[in-house]
Amino acid sequence: MAPPDGQIVPYSGLLDRYGSLLDLPQHTARVTLLEGNTPLIPLPGLVEELGGGFALYAKFEGLNPTGSFKDRGMTAAISEAVGRKAQAVICASTGNTAASAAAYAARAGLRAVVLIPAGKVAAGKLAGAVAYGAQVVQIDGSFDDALTLVVAISEKHSIALVNSLNPYRLEGQKTAAFEICDRLGRAPDWLCLPVGNAGNITAYWMGFQQYHELNDTGLPRILGVQAAGAAPLVLGHPVDHPETLATAIRIGKPARGEQALQAAEESGGRIIAQEDEAILGMQRRLAAEGVWVEPASAAGLAGLVAEIRAGKLSPQGKTIVAVCTGHGLKDPDAITRSMPVPTRLPADLIELEAHILGK
Ligand code: F0G
Repeated sequence: MAPPDGQIVPYSGLLDRYGSLLDLPQHTARVTLLEGNTPLIPLPGLVEELGGGFALYAKFEGLNPTGSFKDRGMTAAISEAVGRKAQAVICASTGNTAASAAAYAARAGLRAVVLIPAGKVAAGKLAGAVAYGAQVVQIDGSFDDALTLVVAISEKHSIALVNSLNPYRLEGQKTAAFEICDRLGRAPDWLCLPVGNAGNITAYWMGFQQYHELNDTGLPRILGVQAAGAAPLVLGHPVDHPETLATAIRIGKPARGEQALQAAEESGGRIIAQEDEAILGMQRRLAAEGVWVEPASAAGLAGLVAEIRAGKLSPQGKTIVAVCTGHGLKDPDAITRSMPVPTRLPADLIELEAHILGK
């Protein structure tokens, strides 16, 4: 139905926009916070620094309703759970999944229980989960331990699992690939992104393949990037005690590791690791271009730049998209713990002039 004159057509969320392309059961009942539709922000400064001659965009997923890409998968998973009359949902999380599950569960009137690794979840994510009313449980262990526990609980009781082991999460997350193709008119030549539990890289590859079959949009090569202290897919074995300041991807046994490796290989790309220093350096570099992301979200781009500088990836003439998965506001401590204390002055014009103009 056309809107009355002078009114804009409201954006109605991912299931309305792309639902026909998602493999969701008939019973799915739409629950949305108007997620998705995130921008591709050009990064001309970084392009110039790398010698020019190519296009680079950040797909800024931090602009989703709860500040991360998880909302794409959560609109699908919670909609499915509500449709089959689930009363409660549960997930393990390094933080973003928890906040997203909490928000969508709240929206749908479901109970949400979230398990997080004690002391390793960024402040903005924990605050989000609490604000949206989830029951938060800290586990003395890693994300991987928490995931094992929630899988066991969901098998034993009627509580819906909304981690990315839930296939509907991936169906929702495919929409990011659709959006990129819709904006660019085709798939990019390269897509780089951080890899933790490996649901997102799996979903992107599914999405690009499906869109290519339908619309002949081509396929990107995929560069997945793990943190060096939590790089099971690069090392080829699980990591018992993963460590990284990029806490979102502090994961030693990715649930969808096999599929991630397959996605990278089939696409002609690869999965590499980056040290925390390089990841945090890229976080600062992106902020210098006006895009503040949480540390993990800078990993994809850090890996891309390292590959370009090492001559292992030629960007010339290419279109590259870097997925920036979560907002910088999620993890304020990543910045404030090492920042110089801002100068404090009396409320006095002369002193202020002297300070900022050096007079
Ligand atoms: N970036 C951010 C900001 C994340 O929160 C995550 C995962 C990833 C990247 C990696 O995505 O797991 O699909 O490979 N966060 C999960 C969570 C584990 O619990 O919020 P992935």
